[in-house]
Amino acid sequence: MRGQPVERTPVWFMRQAGRSLPEYRALRRAGGLLELCHDPAVAAEVTMQPVRRHGVDAAILFSDIVFPLHAIGFGVEIRPGVGPVIEEPIREQADLERLRPFEPDADAPELAETVRLVRDGLSVPVIGFAGAPFTVASYLVEGGPSKVQARTRALMLTDPDLWTALCKRLADQAVASLEAQVRAGAAAVQLFDSWAGSLSAARYEAQVLPIMTSIIERLRPLGVPVVSFALGGGHLLELLAAAGPDVVGCDWRTPLSAASVRLGPGIALQGNLDPAACLATWPIAEAAADGVLEDAPARGHVFNLGHGVFPETDPGILTAIVEHVHARTSVDPPAPAPARAG
Ligand code: CP3
Repeated sequence: MRGQPVERTPVWFMRQAGRSLPEYRALRRAGGLLELCHDPAVAAEVTMQPVRRHGVDAAILFSDIVFPLHAIGFGVEIRPGVGPVIEEPIREQADLERLRPFEPDADAPELAETVRLVRDGLSVPVIGFAGAPFTVASYLVEGGPSKVQARTRALMLTDPDLWTALCKRLADQAVASLEAQVRAGAAAVQLFDSWAGSLSAARYEAQVLPIMTSIIERLRPLGVPVVSFALGGGHLLELLAAAGPDVVGCDWRTPLSAASVRLGPGIALQGNLDPAACLATWPIAEAAADGVLEDAPARGHVFNLGHGVFPETDPGILTAIVEHVHARTSVDPPAPAPARAG
């Protein structure tokens, strides 16, 4: 993430925890997703499951981008197969009163506790995360998941002051959450802007870039690398980089070589295997992973998918990808196993 030399390319997968793992589904039967996130022992266990199984180089905290909203008592639930649904969406200035600051120590000490349990339970680093304001705002404004975020984009145009005020509150929540995660031991953080791809570059620059820049500036004193990821953000890469992260996440639509040319060598890249390739047979998935490695910059590449693991993915394919990326990028190929004594 810092662009320093590595022994082999590090690998982790967005959404590596969760529905593709039978051991998660067994635990998940016990309760709702957000309820699981409030239980540190369970959330830590789910965070560690994919690390043990796949041998990835980092854990991603098991939580959700709407966790801070849930923790302050803003009516939100995650409906299976649907996503986050908001009881009373944000429509006007007065609605902002309901969006109070997130105080992790008071509202959800279990967040930091989960990070501590994972940090102590694993030898690989823990990545913390938060939703970026545009994406979280889109849930609050639309009332739930939407394909094109039409209401949100209309609000940005018709009431830019409300938009800015809303984003400031969400930025404060994201920073508070990430500070708590890093203080508890997260070694890097990722901002997920899953729906920012629906914005034009001009709109992003005018009404999202300033808030992203301020968030990343406020994270700087924590001293950990910051990853910025926007699904479908190929047309936004320069603007994602302009906000000042250490790493830009690329989805599968933008070749890493093209991103390298556009962003230059000063910033690391994360990605970008098409998650659909993990639904194919091993020879196809392997060839696709090789394609990513061949296209990646020589320095400052974190292997990942271009978006989250699909629930129907065979976990065996993910494990094989980790082994393959490690073997292919090892500076010193692993020595043959020592002959057994005696
Ligand atoms: O392994 C990991 O990556 C850590 C866990 C994680 C979850 N959500 C758990 C989860 C992470 C990083 C998130 C982030 C998140 N949540 C994002 C950004 C990443 C992305 O995918 O773009 C977004 C947009 C959300 C909102 C959200 N939460 C959606 C769209 C859904 C899917 C709803 C569904 O069931 O199809 C969720 C639910 C969710 N969050 C699940 C998990 C494991 C699946 C539901 C479950 O197990 O009940």
